[in-house]
Amino acid sequence: MAPLSSGGQIALAFVGGFLAALLVIAVVAFSFLRSSDAYGLGHWKLNAKMPLSTMWMNLGYCLFDVVEPGYIYLFCADAARPGTWDPQTRSAVESLADERYAERWLLALDCLYHFKPSRRPVFEYAARRLKANSMAFDLVLNESASLGDKLRMRAVGVMMGCPIDTFLTEKEYLDQLVQCGYDRESSTITDISEHVFSGVSGFIDSQERALSQYSVTLGGYKLAGRLFEWFGRSKVVKAVIVVARTREDADLSSS
Ligand SMILES: C[S@@+](CC[C@H](N)C(=O)[O-])C[C@H]1O[C@@H](n2cnc3c(N)ncnc32)[C@H](O)[C@@H]1O
Repeated sequence: MAPLSSGGQIALAFVGGFLAALLVIAVVAFSFLRSSDAYGLGHWKLNAKMPLSTMWMNLGYCLFDVVEPGYIYLFCADAARPGTWDPQTRSAVESLADERYAERWLLALDCLYHFKPSRRPVFEYAARRLKANSMAFDLVLNESASLGDKLRMRAVGVMMGCPIDTFLTEKEYLDQLVQCGYDRESSTITDISEHVFSGVSGFIDSQERALSQYSVTLGGYKLAGRLFEWFGRSKVVKAVIVVARTREDADLSSS
């Protein structure tokens, strides 16, 4: 092999260094986004009201919350797979499929893109079994985004632990709702991106600045902030409100 000139060696070293840096960034991003703690207790940093009114961190402070038993029941289950719910959860949910209730709604806030294998099982269960309308905050793929951005978005989805095909265009999303038992004419998908992405990324920046006074850093959430900023700038995905109403012929017997 012919020896490289010193210019060639410098260029090679530069490219090698650049690729190594890219690899390190990708590994760090991947580890953060895939970590089970991505929705963990670290979120206090995003919810702390600044400036902090107290930072009591001494031992021995006890707080008991008394929750009046009664009106709201919470169940812990994989919402994406109704077939896996335990009998108690299933019967509590199915007790809602009662003609006494004039309307039933499935409410899903900012979680459906995580659902594995897809949104389909829970939409079908809600529409056909419960005859429940659906309302959701969700992300849809912008059909006019560039191929490169669409591929990058798929990679982001996979890093977030979502199914590879989770981001659907508006048309694909509506088609899926219809296949699951919802009515096309009365279902709507409303783009609210302008009220979402720049606000979230701006908030994460300001929270990072405010917390830095206490030597607390947002760590991996800064990456989430950059992602939201990219969503808003590139418009690769839209932040949307989905409202879907069941069709009269969506039967209550199947699934
Ligand atoms: C982007 S976070 C949004 C959380 C909440 N809407 C909020 O604003 O704080 C997505 C949430 O969906 C939950 N999630 C994802 N897949 C789920 C599933 N299959 N069943 C139940 N919850 C799920 C995650 O645990 C996480 O808390």
